[in-house]
Amino acid sequence: MSHDVQLGMPSLPAPDYPAEVRERLAADAKEVIDRYPDSRSALLPLLHLVQAEEGHVTRTGMRFCAETLGLTIAEVTAVATFYTMYRREPGGEYQVGVCTNTLCAVMGGDAIFEGLRRHLGVDNGGTTPDGKVTLEHVECNAACDFAPVVMVNWEFFDNQTVESAKALVDGLRAGRAAEPTRGAPLCTFRETSRILAGFPDPRPGAVEAGGGAGPASLAGLRLAKGEHAGGPARVGPPRGAPPSTTKQQHPGEHPGSHDAPQKTSASDPDHPAGPVTEEGEG
Ligand code: FES
Repeated sequence: MSHDVQLGMPSLPAPDYPAEVRERLAADAKEVIDRYPDSRSALLPLLHLVQAEEGHVTRTGMRFCAETLGLTIAEVTAVATFYTMYRREPGGEYQVGVCTNTLCAVMGGDAIFEGLRRHLGVDNGGTTPDGKVTLEHVECNAACDFAPVVMVNWEFFDNQTVESAKALVDGLRAGRAAEPTRGAPLCTFRETSRILAGFPDPRPGAVEAGGGAGPASLAGLRLAKGEHAGGPARVGPPRGAPPSTTKQQHPGEHPGSHDAPQKTSASDPDHPAGPVTEEGEG
């Protein structure tokens, strides 16, 4: 198997899988493709399938996807390089993603990432020499209630600290079982990729496992639905700001000028450049 992959500038032709591997993957691929009315819709799960085979998406894997779906290598490459859940080079058994998006960052995510970077001796995207842990920044995982969050192979480890995160990666490298805070049990990166390809999740209790949103998100959901959030519901100007003189809009009322449909070149031939705002042409 080739591991010296540069997806940005692939050199052709990519080597094919050994016959027995290709035969096995072809059977798996057929099962996936049969779920879709249009075979090309199966590209994302097939990329997970080939990632499960080798631990990352190789040129060989992309060739397999292209030939199986009747796509060009360029089309497959464009998709494989767009989504960050596809690895472009070999990585560790455990993908440790530290959320450094805004809320997690200020709650300690930046400190956790820096702590792990020093502790593991690898930078973003780097893998420990034992092949166990790949460290990376990740974006918001919609788990902000539990910030700062660390994901291992896309399972949640909530409310982390620098020390708990170090203990987590130490345990993974030592082969000790790590239990996610909620949701399904942990498995390896390749096993996760196969599940993401759409094959049955073999982990005991994984399907039944919870892992839903936290109280703050649920309160926001109730407010969005117009229900009482369970506490004092208040929608108003930011703390310390003078009271707004703008009348609040209620359902059914005519929208204000900010909300009204913008003029376009079609509706306003005198200004063909595009929408017109109060500040000028947009
Ligand atoms: S900012 Fe980290 S989960 Fe949302």
